[in-house]
Amino acid sequence: MTSSVAIVTGAAGEIGRAIARRLAEDHDIVLMPDLDGAAVEKAAVSLGNPGKFIALACDITDPANVADMAARAAALGVVRTLVNNAGAARAVSLQETTPEIWRMDSILNLEAAFLCFRAVEDALKQTKGSVVNIASVNGTNVFGHPAYSAAKAGLLHLTKLIAVEYGKFGIRANAVSPGTVRTQAWEDRAAANPNVFEDARRWYPLQRIANPEDVANAVGFLASPLAAAITGACLPVDCGLTAGQAELARTFSQSDDY
Ligand SMILES: NC(=O)c1ccc[n+]([C@@H]2O[C@H](COP(=O)([O-])OP(=O)(O)OC[C@H]3O[C@@H](n4cnc5c(N)ncnc54)[C@H](O)[C@@H]3O)[C@@H](O)[C@H]2O)c1
Repeated sequence: MTSSVAIVTGAAGEIGRAIARRLAEDHDIVLMPDLDGAAVEKAAVSLGNPGKFIALACDITDPANVADMAARAAALGVVRTLVNNAGAARAVSLQETTPEIWRMDSILNLEAAFLCFRAVEDALKQTKGSVVNIASVNGTNVFGHPAYSAAKAGLLHLTKLIAVEYGKFGIRANAVSPGTVRTQAWEDRAAANPNVFEDARRWYPLQRIANPEDVANAVGFLASPLAAAITGACLPVDCGLTAGQAELARTFSQSDDY
């Protein structure tokens, strides 16, 4: 029988690695493309089970690299799940955003997901597989990092575009929208303010931030048959952030119940 393959882009990062670990439970092989070849090799080794986790040096913004990624996946088996996880934010405000940063963030956080999807869509048709896009709370509300946020908003729309156009092939597309997750993406902010995660907790109804496994569990669910009737959806994994803030509810209602 042909092996089922999950692709997790940006799998050298902590969220990507947690997703790879989770998808290994119900896929034969997890292909882990990442720009940082050495880091993703290390990540694959750290997951153990040689032959199950395949590291691949790959720039997902480069169509030729993406074609190589799809060819590698086809050589391993047939793609059942594509997780567009690679992403990064480069400028914190519009005033700091250069045209170059705007373009780079759009390409990495939005266009690359489109390229990866188109590269494996035939395999997804064959398996009636699914796409899970890792968006962000920044895609729906303003929390800084504008170019990244606008691209994540576009990624949420791409999710619906795939769901509607490819539903007839049995392909599903969903998004997961994390709030703060402590990863290397926060290195600069944690260096500038060692209390950044403590400060962030205040805004989260659950009074904590999410961890990579929280995100991975949501991806695992959306990619599984348990979500067979779910497509075009965005599942927030944000400890309640986008539901509202108790502090604001207290001010507006003048009630200490919040
Ligand atoms: N950490 C958070 O608080 C948070 C919150 C919301 C959403 N997210 C999203 O989760 C995803 C993972 O974030 P993370 O915190 O693990 O980030 P990270 O920086 O730790 O990992 C991202 C990985 O993507 C890789 N990458 C970057 N450019 C690439 C390219 N061109 N081609 C291939 N790989 C590339 C990097 O090498 C890195 O290994 C991102 O899409 C991010 O936007 C993260």
